[in-house]
Amino acid sequence: MSYSNIIFPVNFYQKIYKLSCSGGFIRVNRNSSYILRLVFDSIDYLVLEVGFGKGDFLLQYSIDNPGYQIVGIEKSDRLVKEVSKKLVRNGISNVRLIQASAEFALYFLIPDDSVDEIIINFPDPWPKKAHISRRLVNPNFLKLLNNKMKKGSRIFVSTDVIDYKDFIIDSVKKAVNQGSCFRVTNVFMGFWNEKYQTKYLKKWLKENKKIFSIEIQKI
Ligand SMILES: C[S@@+](CC[C@H](N)C(=O)[O-])C[C@H]1O[C@@H](n2cnc3c(N)ncnc32)[C@H](O)[C@@H]1O
Repeated sequence: MSYSNIIFPVNFYQKIYKLSCSGGFIRVNRNSSYILRLVFDSIDYLVLEVGFGKGDFLLQYSIDNPGYQIVGIEKSDRLVKEVSKKLVRNGISNVRLIQASAEFALYFLIPDDSVDEIIINFPDPWPKKAHISRRLVNPNFLKLLNNKMKKGSRIFVSTDVIDYKDFIIDSVKKAVNQGSCFRVTNVFMGFWNEKYQTKYLKKWLKENKKIFSIEIQKI
């Protein structure tokens, strides 16, 4: 499989937090060229949450689904440390956190054909035309996800920006034209799983903003 057309930024400092109840973590040298298999005792159902922010979703989802193995990827060092503490305080053992850009983490640390579910709640919107190329959910990123996902697995994305919703649907079409196997299975107004809250969901609901959810399946 060729990755030569995938461009990704590499953060200066990449760390993996391997959570245990004692809060220990593994540090990975950024020059490491090997692909690291994230170690859980066993992997039955692998979930990724990209850009977990304050971790409200991650925390509740991992409590509700103790049989899932959940990897949180977040580029902010501060947020990773904050959420790491919350997980330890709550005795959660089915989550690993990676402090890295999602592109780096997926490319180097997540094995191909291994992921059952991907959650991206309110990715940074980059609403200005000049900044659209910075949007996370773009055709190249989807191509990367396509390699990592199992057949039948799904991506759940939510956004408060109607233009980003359309951009995502368009990006799926482009990724499919370039060989990815996706179909958009659902697009609707509202949050994709009403049982859960996130910091940004609460913020946008308070401001009476419309929320859009998109469900994408690997076929
Ligand atoms: C708008 S916030 C949403 C946070 C949370 N999901 C929520 O709903 O409250 C976007 C988050 O994505 C993270 N982020 C942005 N780009 C990222 C990337 N390339 N890789 C990993 N995390 C990223 C930001 O640091 C931030 O925490």
